[in-house]
Amino acid sequence: MCGIVGYLGNEETSSILFESLKRLEYRGYDSFGFATIHDNKLWITKDKGKISDVVQIKLPGSIGISHTRWSTHGPPSKINAHPHTDCKNRIALVHNGIIANYLSLRNKLKERGHIFKSETDTEVLVHLIEEYYKPEDGVKLEDAVSSALNAVEGTYAITVISALEKKIVGARKESPLVLGIGNSCFYLGSDISSFLPYTNKTIPLDDFEMVVIEPESYKITDFRTGLLKDKKITKIEWNQKESSKEGFDHFMLKEIFEQPQILKIALNICEEEISKLAETIKEADNVYITATGTSLHAAMTSEYWFSKLAKLPVRVVDSSEFEEKAVLDEKTLVIGVTQSGETYDTLRAMNYAKKNNCKLASIVNIPSSTATRISDITILQGSGMEIGVAATKTFTTQLMILLRLALKLAKNNGETVSSPTMKNERCLLSKDVGDKISEIEEQLKNVPRYIEEALTQKEKIKSITEKYCINVKNFLYIGKGINYPTALEGALKFKEITYHHAEGMPAGFLKHGTISLISDDMYTIAFVPRDDRKILSNVEEIKSRGGKIIGIVSGTAKHFDETINVPRVSDIVSPLVFAPAYQLLAYYTAVALGRDIDQPRHLAKTVTVE
Ligand code: F6R
Repeated sequence: MCGIVGYLGNEETSSILFESLKRLEYRGYDSFGFATIHDNKLWITKDKGKISDVVQIKLPGSIGISHTRWSTHGPPSKINAHPHTDCKNRIALVHNGIIANYLSLRNKLKERGHIFKSETDTEVLVHLIEEYYKPEDGVKLEDAVSSALNAVEGTYAITVISALEKKIVGARKESPLVLGIGNSCFYLGSDISSFLPYTNKTIPLDDFEMVVIEPESYKITDFRTGLLKDKKITKIEWNQKESSKEGFDHFMLKEIFEQPQILKIALNICEEEISKLAETIKEADNVYITATGTSLHAAMTSEYWFSKLAKLPVRVVDSSEFEEKAVLDEKTLVIGVTQSGETYDTLRAMNYAKKNNCKLASIVNIPSSTATRISDITILQGSGMEIGVAATKTFTTQLMILLRLALKLAKNNGETVSSPTMKNERCLLSKDVGDKISEIEEQLKNVPRYIEEALTQKEKIKSITEKYCINVKNFLYIGKGINYPTALEGALKFKEITYHHAEGMPAGFLKHGTISLISDDMYTIAFVPRDDRKILSNVEEIKSRGGKIIGIVSGTAKHFDETINVPRVSDIVSPLVFAPAYQLLAYYTAVALGRDIDQPRHLAKTVTVE
């Protein structure tokens, strides 16, 4: 993961890098570092810990690079923090990704006399660049960087400086890097948020591209061939207010409470965009949705919507398993669901689909991210920047978009039949289904209001967490049918930020083994929608074994030790209204336990490594 920032301009670089790096801390927060050039010397500071705990960084110079780390090779420490430097202390480099062949390169470089200081894979890159760097013979920094990159295997976004040249060289392969173009200055960042307060003009780099920024110009080439690339500048519209907590204690809480507003935006995503993807789904012989983490749970929920509403079998595959499982051909559509648009596993699955000639679509929050650029069709979520590492508002937006798609397809089925030229009678909408669709459409419009109502339960949820969730360390989350993914997502939110064990499963599955765990140290959270009677027998099974149960209920059921009521809606819409309740349950438990809510241990928001 890790976040990278670079700046070249007329201002003192270290204060710009400092502010920019704080905006990338969601990508990694175990150590940080800065390097600048001044007086033909490198100036470096780095340390273990969070950049947000640092009051100020002061280094001279107006060219510099910086890094916030999420460790892969070598534990968090001052020595392992980036930037890494070469033996002569002329070159400094920061890196996001993994150098796969670092061990063999390290051995070869050691044999050639290079001295390694850290345990990282990254350090081989800077020594390798040093091997090729011969400024005295006219070999410039970018030449040495291309040669080095052509010798390494793995994934990387890098920025490199040399004390001998007034430039920054950046390059990428399978890890994100974007160029920002300001007034007489340039930025490099892992994402646009790093430099958005300074400029909204950007060029995202693609794989194998290298950019050289100098005081008056920039140049982008393919580092494999040296050929110049002609890239268009994109202007990003993004609201800066999003990077402040606006009075909330944490970004996560702010983002939970933003959901009514953000879902109104999702309801207003224009019908044409939804129809275009719905048409593409209809035309495909097979449809896969691939995603991971919370986005996978949104996709899994939609699997039920596509089958129940549109009678369409869609296969949902965890993107880290996609290559092992998917059967693809040119009539297959693959839809990647990814908030960041940069998750390694999801991009890998999407690229695999592309290689197999599939049509590629995506549902993505971050504009101009890699997923949007490799897709034939993208629906942009419009959820705004999500800073809390635990996904909340971006998840409910994904649900909203996927439900709109399923409804569109369900209605198209009806229209198909009403046309005498079409013979797809299997899809005829019965009156029952037609009425149901109208009811769901009506409820969908009201989802922002339902969520507002669910959020009014916050004091009750807080008191439940204090009574039930702090001293117990194990939780089962159960749901049936469409709320099985709700159970998975509820458990994931809880684990991520409380560090307590939580396991989501289908309610019916419980009695096939897991029920043996019911005890004083294993409570259950059950999701009970309006029309669901069956889950209540599972609830009784738990109660008869002395298990404590918190019910999150969209109806009237009262079978629980504690009940959190959310608005009464149909089963289909219930995953949306359950979300704020389990998000707040996880939040208030984590607050009471004194956890780091916005940056939970070991996690990073965008996982750009395998
Ligand atoms: C959980 C969470 C992660 C992400 C996952 C995929 O709260 O944030 O599980 O959902 O890493 O990320 P995207 O959606 O960016 O592909």
